[in-house]
Amino acid sequence: MNNTSFWQETISIGGQAAVSRFMTAPLDGVIDSPMRQMIRLFSPNELMFSEMRHVDTVANEKEGRSLIYAPCEQPLVFQFSANRINFIPKAVERVLAAGFKAINLNSACPAPAVVRSGSGSALMGNIPQLTIILNELQKSIAGRVPLSIKIRAGFKEKNALTVAQLAQDVGCEAVIIHPRTQPERFSGRLDFDLVAAIKKSISIPVIYSGNITKFEVAQRIHSLTGADGFMIGRALWGAPWKLKEIVSASQNIPFSAGLSTAFDCIVKHLDLNAQFYGPYGYGHFKKHLAYYIRTFPNAANWRTLLLRSQSEEEMRTILNALLHEARESNLWLPL
Ligand SMILES: Cc1cc2nc3c(=O)[nH]c(=O)nc-3n(C[C@H](O)[C@H](O)[C@H](O)COP(=O)(O)O)c2cc1C
Repeated sequence: MNNTSFWQETISIGGQAAVSRFMTAPLDGVIDSPMRQMIRLFSPNELMFSEMRHVDTVANEKEGRSLIYAPCEQPLVFQFSANRINFIPKAVERVLAAGFKAINLNSACPAPAVVRSGSGSALMGNIPQLTIILNELQKSIAGRVPLSIKIRAGFKEKNALTVAQLAQDVGCEAVIIHPRTQPERFSGRLDFDLVAAIKKSISIPVIYSGNITKFEVAQRIHSLTGADGFMIGRALWGAPWKLKEIVSASQNIPFSAGLSTAFDCIVKHLDLNAQFYGPYGYGHFKKHLAYYIRTFPNAANWRTLLLRSQSEEEMRTILNALLHEARESNLWLPL
């Protein structure tokens, strides 16, 4: 279905300023402040999410590290994980004082350590605790910003329909769904029928998350599910222009990132990492590098060299050599 006007419309979550139907997904350890600043070079307005942080951490960390962001990252939603309510009021106050535009509860993370603590997707298997946490969040937020929830198809059993209805009943303003169960982690069959059933059963916006790499995929998923919004996650890894590429395609505006865009991004992103993380910045950047260079000629050899680099200076020297070779050969393929 190519419903042009649908893609030209914006959505509003909880009466907030209208935003594009496309937004970035939270990716812990990947879409951090430097990465969000990279995405902003291409996409100035789309909604973005923080990485998931536990309410206890946010309430108690001394320097408020998880609350640091650059002004350009707005509009920015803060994502909590929680397994208990003790620190929710304090964490909410800190997040709101830091200027985040909305709060999201993660009820989706499948990571064993998170699930063992009873947070993330484990909350979908513990509806009484999930209800207590959502109510406490609503009480603490007291209508100042919208609350939304990110869920999976279910924890072990698929109960997303029940959880989505519960979320709406306690006053959530949007449901974001990655339609796989916890054991399926981030691969396996996506349950589009389940998303369609949720869309039919609630009136708040349904945001879909999972495997969107280009506009045509989002179009297909919209036709199968009726979802209102679409998150882009792993497709942004090593391609911070991807959100713009997808949004541009949805608006019939030609855009494609070229070789020099990729080069510029690598250098700029390393700079931002060094600024944000200090001496550890180049180490953090290694996970991005592997993705940026995956379609460069001799990527495997360069990757080994870069991953072994022992200092920012050594990394920059190898990068310069790589960029020189790639420029000469002009063999880079668009991601
Ligand atoms: C490395 C990694 C980190 C993630 N971190 C978070 C997170 O902090 N919060 C969250 O709600 N989802 C997180 N997710 C899930 C993504 O937001 C998204 O739902 C999932 O990757 C599917 O979408 P995609 O195929 O577009 O990446 C993470 C996924 C990955 C692969």
